[in-house]
Amino acid sequence: MKENRGNFSSKLGVIAVAAGSAVGLGNIWRFPYIAGENGGGAFLIVYLIFVFLIGVPVMLSEFAIGRKAGCNAYGTFKKLSPKGAWWLVGLMGILAAIMIFSFYGTVAGWTLEYVKKAICDEFAGQDLGALSQSFSDFTTSPTMPLVWMVVFVALTALIILGGVEKGIEKVSKFLMPLLFVLIIAVCIRAVTLPNASKGLEFLFKPDWSSLTFKGVLMALGQAAFSLSIGMGTMITYGSYIKKDTPLTATAIEIASCDTIVALLGAIMVFPTLAFLGAESTGGPGLVFVTLPAIFQAMPGGYIFAILFFLLLSVAALTSTISLLEVPVSFLVDEFNMSRRKATLLSSSVIILLGVFCTLSFGLLSDFTIFGKTIFDLFDYTTANIMLTFGALFIVIYVGWFFGRKNFVDELTAGGRGNVVLAKIISIIVKFIAPIGIGLVAIGTFVIGGIV
Ligand code: TRP
Repeated sequence: MKENRGNFSSKLGVIAVAAGSAVGLGNIWRFPYIAGENGGGAFLIVYLIFVFLIGVPVMLSEFAIGRKAGCNAYGTFKKLSPKGAWWLVGLMGILAAIMIFSFYGTVAGWTLEYVKKAICDEFAGQDLGALSQSFSDFTTSPTMPLVWMVVFVALTALIILGGVEKGIEKVSKFLMPLLFVLIIAVCIRAVTLPNASKGLEFLFKPDWSSLTFKGVLMALGQAAFSLSIGMGTMITYGSYIKKDTPLTATAIEIASCDTIVALLGAIMVFPTLAFLGAESTGGPGLVFVTLPAIFQAMPGGYIFAILFFLLLSVAALTSTISLLEVPVSFLVDEFNMSRRKATLLSSSVIILLGVFCTLSFGLLSDFTIFGKTIFDLFDYTTANIMLTFGALFIVIYVGWFFGRKNFVDELTAGGRGNVVLAKIISIIVKFIAPIGIGLVAIGTFVIGGIV
């Protein structure tokens, strides 16, 4: 079992891989539309508070126990607390990973179609109406979205199978900064569009009356989703971090990268929407409709569009790798399965569920549970319920059962890092984070139905 475990070569390696997991469609696709649907500016402030006050401590809790145990999400709890029922948290995380990948794969597939569209110059001359139409024509069709989804899952599986995550680490160290530069360029164009100020106002001027309690829950769910926490990805990654790396600074850096990209994602989208004269919401199609519009308004837009969607697919790929790694390392560690078998089994299940998610926009759009399509149901329940409760249990475990000395030791790598900060974080993990997450979770139940 041990020989399958590698170590990240350097601190930069950890940051690159964990940030590669965090930065993905959650930032560019999900954040803008969730923020848009929940009131913009006010949502953003709550989101930022959640990322740094709760998200970072949860990420650190995951890193700490993962590194201490040197196991997958389930095995970590089994090893650290053999008598307790904490392993259930690990198990829920593995289920969450599979469900997230199932709907994530649909959207990742869309990015591939948009690479194709960009290459064929299909956006040229299309206005907002035409762009929305072509988005819905594509997503409702019964074949191509499925093909792209399967291609994407297969690609992820191949990388995991080939054990070339190390290769991906190198590739993404180069490509992710490039995506970042591209995003900045698009942002510059976005904020200089006519009417841009209206969009920026929506994003940065909090209108507290538009924030509902459900919006607060969504902010917490989005923070967990975007940081890849609450289900064991970071536990699994923690197990690969070298013992002498202090954790605190690493987590803050990862969360900062992730948040900057999400903010820039929203800065691309909302001014463009205002420019197009559209409403501020827009659902899951938001970036796929607005970005092609902005590329048309940019010099060199044809090239920008191709590169952008290509790099967005790569960003999605580094995230899906981290998702697939969760069930795979579980099967390898706990069932002694070969990596090959574990990868095939996990990706088959994901494709099967992914078919339902993908068809939710077309053939199965009328098939709803609690008023939600399967795609929406997976998206909503994983981010807002499973990750939220996962995060809650993880901080309760680390705050109350793992031992403060153990935790501070892990955060500072035995005194190398900032001890005062580590102590503050251990207090947040023990009291503030569980109360904060608990209030949001319980409040949602009380206020009326969780879905
Ligand atoms: N954070 C990724 C994104 O923003 C998605 C993701 C990857 C994820 N691994 C995860 C979300 C683990 C939750 C848990 O696109």
